[in-house]
Amino acid sequence: MEELDPQRIPQHIAVIMDGNGRWARRRGLPRLEGHRQGYKTLKSVVIAAAELNVKVLTAYTFSSENWRRPKAEVSGLMRLIRYAARAELDEMKRQGVRIIVSGRMHELPKSVQKQLDEDIKATAGNSRIILNIAVNYGGRVEIVDAARRAAEMVQRGEIEPAQIDEDLLSSLMYHPELPDPDLLIRTAGEMRISNFLLWQSAYTEFYVTQTLWPDFSREDLVAAIKDYQRRTRKFGAVVEQA
Ligand code: IPE
Ligand code: IPE
Ligand code: MG
Repeated sequence: MEELDPQRIPQHIAVIMDGNGRWARRRGLPRLEGHRQGYKTLKSVVIAAAELNVKVLTAYTFSSENWRRPKAEVSGLMRLIRYAARAELDEMKRQGVRIIVSGRMHELPKSVQKQLDEDIKATAGNSRIILNIAVNYGGRVEIVDAARRAAEMVQRGEIEPAQIDEDLLSSLMYHPELPDPDLLIRTAGEMRISNFLLWQSAYTEFYVTQTLWPDFSREDLVAAIKDYQRRTRKFGAVVEQA
């Protein structure tokens, strides 16, 4: 299969889908047109990932800092998320995609929450691939939310402070059932994490491509996985042990 080692397909791929604005600007189009094209890219990448036997795809759709953008862009993005979540539901069901969401859902417009909830429920029985939509997601906020829940457990007398450890905090993240991402892809060339999966990406392999997200194709995905398969993951140990 396209020279990939089927034994070493990353189970969980996370993507920072960046460059929609630049894609649009280069064409003299409004930024929202870039986001529209980006949504189409995501659909094809989900299907390609499923075909390649990836088990989880986490897509950074809207960060907890993206509220700082112009009002019109924020509302355009919210409308697009709602539209896409409705328009693609049948296809996602057909493809065996299970949709879940990471982020503070309750701060989203009600209509977006409602549509995402419907997608989550309607696809709950699917198991070919999980599409984890990170929306109103921030890595720091996720850790804050977990810390608050740990503090509440202490307050209720359920645990001692000394019992707050990595396993406990991991179990309080938005989706503790998911494996940590093996591979993090960022499009559009920026070499930063932008508050994505701070807790979970401790040992994730990074892959940055200059390709803008709307141009990202199945071939780009395969290239990223190929690059990943050439890496030696050590998790702090030495190669012979790993
Ligand atoms: C990523 O594309 C999409 C979102 C953050 C919602 P950008 O809109 O950040 O694109 P650039 O970085 O301006 O090119
Ligand atoms: C990260 O991209 C967020 C998403 C892709 C949803 P940004 O474009 O918001 O990140 P910065 O501002 O360049 O760090
Ligand atoms: Mg950007």
